Amino acid sequence: MCGIVGYIGNKNSVPILIDGLKRLEYRGYDSAGVGILSNESAEVYKKEGKVSDLESHISEFKLNSKVGIGHTRWATHGIPNEVNAHPHFNPEKTLLVIHNGIIENYTVLKKNLRDEGYEFISDTDTEVLVNLIDFYLKKELNLCNAVRFALSKVEGTYGIAAIYKNEPDKIVVARKGSPLVIGVGEEENLIASDVNALIAHTKRVVYLEDNEVAEIYKDRFIVKTLNDEKLQKHIEEIEGSIEEITKGGFPHFMLKEIMEQPESIKNSLRGRVILKDGLAKLGGLIGYEDRIAGSKRIIICACGTSWHAGLVAEYMIEQYADIPVEVEYASEFRYRNPILSKDDTVIFISQSGETADTLAALKEAKRKGALCVGVVNVVGSTIARESHTGVYIHAGPEIGVASTKAFTSQLIVLSLITLLIARKKNLSVVEGREIAQAILELPEKVQEILNQNELVEKVAEKFVDAHNFLYLGRGYQFPVALEGALKLKEISYIHAEGYPAAEMKHGPIALIDENMPVVFIAPTDSVYEKVVSNIEEVKARGGRIIAVANNDNGKIDDLVENTIKVPSTIPMLMPVLTVIPLQLLAYHIAVKKGLNVDQPRNLAKSVTVE
Ligand code: M6R
Repeated sequence: MCGIVGYIGNKNSVPILIDGLKRLEYRGYDSAGVGILSNESAEVYKKEGKVSDLESHISEFKLNSKVGIGHTRWATHGIPNEVNAHPHFNPEKTLLVIHNGIIENYTVLKKNLRDEGYEFISDTDTEVLVNLIDFYLKKELNLCNAVRFALSKVEGTYGIAAIYKNEPDKIVVARKGSPLVIGVGEEENLIASDVNALIAHTKRVVYLEDNEVAEIYKDRFIVKTLNDEKLQKHIEEIEGSIEEITKGGFPHFMLKEIMEQPESIKNSLRGRVILKDGLAKLGGLIGYEDRIAGSKRIIICACGTSWHAGLVAEYMIEQYADIPVEVEYASEFRYRNPILSKDDTVIFISQSGETADTLAALKEAKRKGALCVGVVNVVGSTIARESHTGVYIHAGPEIGVASTKAFTSQLIVLSLITLLIARKKNLSVVEGREIAQAILELPEKVQEILNQNELVEKVAEKFVDAHNFLYLGRGYQFPVALEGALKLKEISYIHAEGYPAAEMKHGPIALIDENMPVVFIAPTDSVYEKVVSNIEEVKARGGRIIAVANNDNGKIDDLVENTIKVPSTIPMLMPVLTVIPLQLLAYHIAVKKGLNVDQPRNLAKSVTVE
């Protein structure tokens, strides 16, 4: 949560900071601010609301400075207002600090600083940090050492950047638990929470690790440990382009990302399917395949949409690879005492690769000797780097807060992992080929569904005023029901719940009346007839039904007024198809309600706090 960016070089930093903040806004959008050093003074400009509000606010000042830092906030401590916005500053307003993370011991530190005479104007934990650094600066330490000393007293997580009027030739940054990357340019350097903010300026990056601090000058950078040991860091070349992180003519990132799915799925499976042998080839897993296939148990840990992908994988792996699977919320797993051994494989699924709960669960599983496999989208992210091994999903940058293309790409990679392990076990080449063929056919089938966008929009129109929704599915479609409900609630603020269809009669059926829309995910699989019975039960009670069914299912049209048809594939891959109409449905309902689908209230793309 929160995005941070910094620039030092020969250009005016302000437009670069604003542009970087816009690209990081998906990380938080409660308030935004920039801090610059100019004419031997430090200046701060902040605004509650979006980066565009800050941009219009500062336009009248004609700011020009060759060094600056910027922040877009997702509020943790203190309400979203101008005072709590970053950068925060010391009493003399000579030191400016931006921060992504949480200082857990801030109350103790605050008390100590108050005893030293410091006064606080905001409710944030960050102001404690800035005053603590100031405390050490006043002990005649330079900025880097003051930051190191201050951070040695801090418990919690941080990605920070600091600038200081008396040392205007540098930005000092540090990280623990929150991502921070240095962009290495020609006579200019940048820092940011992620590469999206850098890619317009450089493709050469250095990822800072936990407990590292760096001094960034315009023509060099020095990285050290918090204990002052100098480190040699490797400069990596990143892929991707600026086009990938713009809306490309679509009104919202979410719609662009939904529509991109035929392409993102192709990217996830490119070079990874060997059709003639019915095999999957996953470069990242080479050397680990036997250990994974020989696992006594596979545990899948994730949050939100990634957790739903994990639930689908549970069905896949148990059906084909014959290994017991457990799917865990990362947030619960990390605080239990999970019983793990070296015979277990734990798969961590994360789009961002930075989710704090998933990362903490990964560290716990590593400590306990399990093999840790990352299934991650963002290349170079912390979960990708901390896992023993892993597979990138290659969905491309996902900016919309509601995860769409990452979900389908996760399913693709999880189906490939299933194929790989199953073929190491009992799956025959013929069955392997069937799965491989079905995977390869998915992009075209997804396109067919996307072509019905207008039909889904018309269905959405009828349900804009609903206050509640129920999503029901069985087997492979149960996780899709959960995902459909999550998509709707997070962007349209309509209360929605997903249930296994058969559970309906154990409670939720009491909710059914003429005001309750029920979405049935009802492909013609082994449980189809049972789902039809559930549809009848809802109809009998006056519920309004939307069904997602197969193209060749003519019968359902007599039963249900609003049907969205999808092509057929093998059951294990049906979620890749059935989820698409649900993504579109949520999108159109939210747009019709006039809501900001890319930046829904209270949410952020990357949940880097507990
Ligand atoms: O980056 P991750 O996949 O680890 O994120 C997990 C969840 O925070 C994420 O899926 C969240 O639920 C999305 N907003 C869902 O659309």
